[in-house]
Amino acid sequence: MAALRPLLRHASTSTSSTVRPALSSSVIAPFLRLPTTTPTTIRTTPSQPHPPSQRPFSTTTSKMSAQPLIDAAQTRRTIYKLGKNSPVPDSKIEELVNAAIHTVPSSFNTQSTRLVVLLHAEHEKLWDVVIDTFSGLVNTGAVPEETWKNQTLPKLQGFKNGVGTILFYEDPAHIKPFSEKFALYKDHFQPWAEHSNAMHQYYLWTGLSALGFGANLQHYNPLIDAPVAKQWDIPSEWRLISQLVFGSPEAAAGEKAQKPVQERLKIFGKQ
Ligand SMILES: Cc1cc2nc3c(=O)[nH]c(=O)nc-3n(C[C@H](O)[C@H](O)[C@H](O)COP(=O)(O)O)c2cc1C
Repeated sequence: MAALRPLLRHASTSTSSTVRPALSSSVIAPFLRLPTTTPTTIRTTPSQPHPPSQRPFSTTTSKMSAQPLIDAAQTRRTIYKLGKNSPVPDSKIEELVNAAIHTVPSSFNTQSTRLVVLLHAEHEKLWDVVIDTFSGLVNTGAVPEETWKNQTLPKLQGFKNGVGTILFYEDPAHIKPFSEKFALYKDHFQPWAEHSNAMHQYYLWTGLSALGFGANLQHYNPLIDAPVAKQWDIPSEWRLISQLVFGSPEAAAGEKAQKPVQERLKIFGKQ
């Protein structure tokens, strides 16, 4: 039943309590880390002939500003009510996803995150897969009929009403060799891969919002991993991490409580 808990979750903006990890000698390992000598493989594609990392280094900062990023981050919210009026052509979504793949960093440059973008009819197919999976759970009694009818099904149909879903995966085949090669950090590669995966999620959530989409982040994994892998011929060893659903924003975001900034931020040495 614990596995089902997040799936039955309602829209909420409440925050959960902080869990502090136990301190152990392994926590110092990252600080001993040396710069990696792992070669960076940069693939050039017609849509991006000069990847940012190959651009000549420049010290010209006069035109640089964090404001576009701040503005984009402020635009990103959780939007549950989605529609099919796409604000941009699909090529803009593809451009954004390509940019994420090229620019989001990963620990030791492992590049283990995998993205699957489902648009229009394929997106609808995904939410039919989720609805089918849940119907099976209702039949076995694992999900109460009332919860299904009144909460889960309307929510899933709402997601289906959007334009697309991005599936975020991790490919363990690209993490294992690093764990074996760098024994000191072997327990860190998995969480670091998740950090990088989350960076992809945040990049795309923010980027889609900047394009005019509304989006929300879901976690129907691992329940749907197998049928989704079968439907889109996804390697069975890839691990599904999350689903970012997007579409035209059809309602405003809910109220969001903010804990005081002073509790969450410390700045030292400011001039
Ligand atoms: C790591 C992470 C996991 C989340 N998982 C879910 C989820 O499974 N279902 C859901 O409806 N919202 C999920 N959310 C959305 C949060 O509830 C939401 O981001 C938060 O309440 C702040 O609201 P905002 O996105 O409008 O800023 C998740 C957000 C994050 C960052």
